[in-house]
Amino acid sequence: MTRLFSHFQSSVGSKVLLALSGLGLVSYVIFHMLGNLQVFEGPHALNRYAALLREMPILLWTARVGLLGIVVLHIVLALQLSLRNHRARPIGYAVRRYRRASVASRTMAASGAVLLLFIIFHLLHLTAGIIDPSASDRLDVEGHRDVYGKIVHAFQNPLIVALYVVGQLGLGLHVNHAVSSSLQTLGLEHAALNRLFKAAGPSVALLVILGNVAIIVAVFVGIVR
Ligand code: HEM
Repeated sequence: MTRLFSHFQSSVGSKVLLALSGLGLVSYVIFHMLGNLQVFEGPHALNRYAALLREMPILLWTARVGLLGIVVLHIVLALQLSLRNHRARPIGYAVRRYRRASVASRTMAASGAVLLLFIIFHLLHLTAGIIDPSASDRLDVEGHRDVYGKIVHAFQNPLIVALYVVGQLGLGLHVNHAVSSSLQTLGLEHAALNRLFKAAGPSVALLVILGNVAIIVAVFVGIVR
């Protein structure tokens, strides 16, 4: 147990945990996007799906607490590792390598910060209904919470649309680098599969951006209403 603990205290252990927590969060984002895409099927489908997720409060709260725990762990590990790397930076680094690593880590820090701000805003907006309470307590004709109505109301507002699109860009940038580097950290480097792993980051990032932005734009231009 002590050995396991000291392994995860080490740089390699922290990187593995950072990669695993990151991939867990990416899975949630994909799952969430697929759920939200049901907005294209109309209010009945999306509201029933949202009601189903809330039907088991114990499961819902376990997932919420678990998700929050993973987010906190991910941020703490990322800060810890970047602090360690900063302190341990050798003077004689090859200039190109240093520049590449530094640009990637700065991009990750900046996109991570944008993403965190987006998530806080998003929870206050669509989950808690604090930012715009006007559509938060409505029910649909079947008596379900009107999540469809919340989304339609939200993305008719150009300011909300702009903030969400910026959030998706932060998400895309972060996921792009995170997925490829996580697969490398987990030792999934294999000559034949390397190109596939390199392509995984941009592909997943593009998928998530396109899926989420499709919802935002479809409401804004009136395809979904
Ligand atoms: C266009 C993009 C998005 C839309 C339309 C959307 C929509 C929603 C809606 C409607 C809810 C409230 C659900 C309910 O009241 O039952 C919600 C909750 C949530 N969203 Fe999003 N979301 C989007 C993007 C994201 C992204 C990119 C993330 C994470 C990076 C995210 C994380 C969450 C979380 C953590 C919750 C709380 C879930 C819970 O209540 O347990 N969302 N989202």
